[in-house]
Formats: sequence, C-alpha cells, structure tokens
Amino acid sequence: MDKLVINGGKKLSGEVTVSGSKNAALPIFVSTILAPGLNTIGNVPFLRDINTTIKVLESLGAAVEGNGHVVKIDTANVNSVEATYDLVKTMRASVLVLGPLLARHGRARVSLPGGCAIGARPIDQHLMGLKALGADIHLTHGYVEAKARKLHGARINFDMPTVGGTEHLMMTAALATGETIIENAAREPEIVDLANILNKMGARIEGAGTDTIRIEGVKEMSPVCYEVMPDRIEAGTFMIAAAITGGDVKLRNMKPEHLDALVFKLLDAGVEITNKDSVLRVRCPRRPTAVNIKTRPYPGFPTDMQAQFMALMCVADGASVITENIFENRFMHVSELMRFGADITVEGNSATIKGVKKLSGAPVMATDLRASASLILAGLAADATTEVSRIYHLDRGYESIEKKLAALGADIQRVKE
Ligand code: EPZ
Repeated sequence: MDKLVINGGKKLSGEVTVSGSKNAALPIFVSTILAPGLNTIGNVPFLRDINTTIKVLESLGAAVEGNGHVVKIDTANVNSVEATYDLVKTMRASVLVLGPLLARHGRARVSLPGGCAIGARPIDQHLMGLKALGADIHLTHGYVEAKARKLHGARINFDMPTVGGTEHLMMTAALATGETIIENAAREPEIVDLANILNKMGARIEGAGTDTIRIEGVKEMSPVCYEVMPDRIEAGTFMIAAAITGGDVKLRNMKPEHLDALVFKLLDAGVEITNKDSVLRVRCPRRPTAVNIKTRPYPGFPTDMQAQFMALMCVADGASVITENIFENRFMHVSELMRFGADITVEGNSATIKGVKKLSGAPVMATDLRASASLILAGLAADATTEVSRIYHLDRGYESIEKKLAALGADIQRVKE
C-alpha cells in the first residue's frame, strides 16, 4: 500500500486545473445504459471509482475504451441484468444500475450496497421510488431482485433530499410511460449535469436543480457525446489548501457558483477570494478566524467539505462549532487531526474546535475519502513531517492530488508503505 509523506509549512502558490467531477461522472456513466450505442464522455477524472464503474458496465456487457479524460462507452450489448456484490461492495453508486436495467430489460438483480464508513446509507428511498414506478422488488440473500413488465410515471416524495435517490429515479423515469414528478428532490449540481446528458439523449426532464423535477417518459434514448462538469469538491479542497498554508492559488476549470456556501464561509474566516474570468484566486495572508458551519443539502454547506473545513478551523483564531447533519458517522478524521495537536471535542453530531497556532506533523491514517483530504491539508500546514497511510481511500476521489499539490510548491510525495 502507498502512503503520502509531507514536509509541512510551505505556502502554496501558482495555478491548478480542477478535474472532472467524480460525483457527476458516476451517474453519467450509468445513464449510458439507457442509450444503447457509442457514448463518448469527456473531462472524466482518472479515479478508482471510475475504474470500478467501468468494471460494472463491462460486467453488464458494455464495451468501454479508456478510463479517463475521454471514455467511450458502447452499451449496445448490455444484456446482463446482474451487478454482483464483489463490485457493488467497493462502490455503493453501482446500485444506480438497478433502475436503468429495469427500464431497458424489465428486470435486474443488484447487490444491496451494504454499509459504509461514514454511515448506514440505506437505499430505502430508491426502492420506494422504483416501486412507485411499477417495479416489483424483493430483497433476497443481500440482493435486490426487481421486475417490471412496464414502468409507468408516478408522483414521488422523498423523506429527505437524497442525491443518489434523485439520480436513480430521474434516470429510471426517463423511459417510463407517462409523467413522473419527484418532490423534495436533491438540488446538487451533479443532478443538473445528469439531467443535461439525459435530455441530450432524448429524455424530457425539467426542474433539475430545484426540489421538484418533472419527467415526461419517452420511448427510446440515443447515445451522445458529453463533457462532465468540474469537480466542485476537489476545487473546494484546493481552496482550503491555499487558505491553510497562507498561500496564493488560482483555480482553473471550475464553477465558483457551485461552491457559494463554502466561499461565503471562507470569506467570513478572512480568506480573500476573487473571481476573474472564472479563474478563482484564493489568498490567506493572515491567520483565518474561526467560523461555525452546519452541513446541509445543496445549496447548503456540503458535507463532502466538512472534514477539509475542520482542518482549517484547527489553526483558526478562536473556537468554531461544526455540525454534521447529513451522515451519522462523519467525524472519523477528528481523532486523526488530534494527533497533529488539534483541540477538538465531539458531542453527538457537533464538534467544537479550538484553533491552535501551529499543528505538529505526525503519522496518521486515512479512514474515508474526504477524511484523507483533511489529513493532507493538516499536514501541509503542520511543522515537521506527516505520513498519511491507507491513501487508497484518497485515490477513489482525487486525481493525482500529490502531483497537483507539489506543482503548487508543497513538499509531498507518494511512497510505498
Ligand atoms: C452522494 O451520496 C455523494 N456520492 C456523496 O459523496 C455525498 O456525501 C452525498 O451525496 C450527500 O451530498 C455520490 O454522488 C457518488 P444521499 P448519496 O442519498 O447519494 C440518507 C463523496 O465523498 N438516505 O444524498 O449516497 C443517507 O443515509 C461522497 O464523494 C436514506 O436514508 O447520498 C444520508 O444520511 C460521500 N435513504 C442522506 O440521506 C436513502 O434511500 C443523504 O444521502 C438514501 C439516502
């Protein structure tokens, strides 16, 4: 296994180009099942989760060329209807193939995703919606067995704005007969990106990005070329890397409007952010001040930025309270951050961080994707040397992060454990 070795204390400076969005690319790859033929997807990041999604599509019969930047996916021969546990257990987003396989073949057998480090992450809302669209669902031996002679439109109201649930049902309803309304839909930009490619394929979807999405079912959809949106969480991570090192970094190929909640909080903390011709410049000449955050569904503060923001608050002037409202176990980075000398106390779903002047480098262990990023950020700011192990978590969602950080002046390298 690899680890990252960081000698902290360097101010980052220069320009970084943000990669394509993991959380947009995954459902976009799945959507090609609905459009038999050659789909060409651009701006695809080189990530483990992309490779896993490609394995899932190939196991269903798709022919895939490439695994990053440009990926060609020919789904003409998607004839299998089973996504097995060994693939789904490594990446829960694989469960999204269930609805599209139902829509295309009338049946599907997909492993339940099982638990995850950050929470139980059930799919009850996905299954509720598929049943509303006419699917007959049985759970046997850890698999979802689904059948549907004909999918029909329905009115669906989510208990909570679920990103995956919204994506899953938007894709499935695209080929259902009649109109589907999804209420209390998630509003994330990745959902808009998915709706854009679905409409380009011939679907008729309105309202993506709002809490009510209307889908008029169509008979068939055609393969397309499509560019994935920039990764707003990678962009946010680099913004915090600039802030926590007191640096001066420009971010290219990102959409600042996708990160309003983060930008406002960073400005509150005294970080200087300017946007010129869609190039975002982040500077932090002085020690940041403590601010409180509560994670919320989009457009609220993103849960996927909570761990990274906490790293910044560890060196802020004052005390901050961070409340995690989306997942029940997303504070696993806390104990690792405390190994750097951070002063954090957790009470339920809230963490109180008393900023310290300086963190001290330490050997730490990544536990999940975004926790890995927060440990790297802390290591960049800490004195002496930090070693981050189990970085296979990191490789799921960040394309060559150590190379991008080194290009900004960080003293960071990947070594074999
Ligand atoms: C997506 O996960 C993202 N993953 C996550 O990013 C992100 O943290 C999450 O949305 C929230 O923004 C991808 O897009 C691949 P949810 P998803 O369904 O769709 C509960 C990362 O780091 N829920 O919006 O699984 C659920 O338990 C990852 O890139 C149900 O109870 O998230 C959670 O508490 C981590 N029943 C809340 O809703 C359901 O049927 C939000 O989950 C579905 C969800």
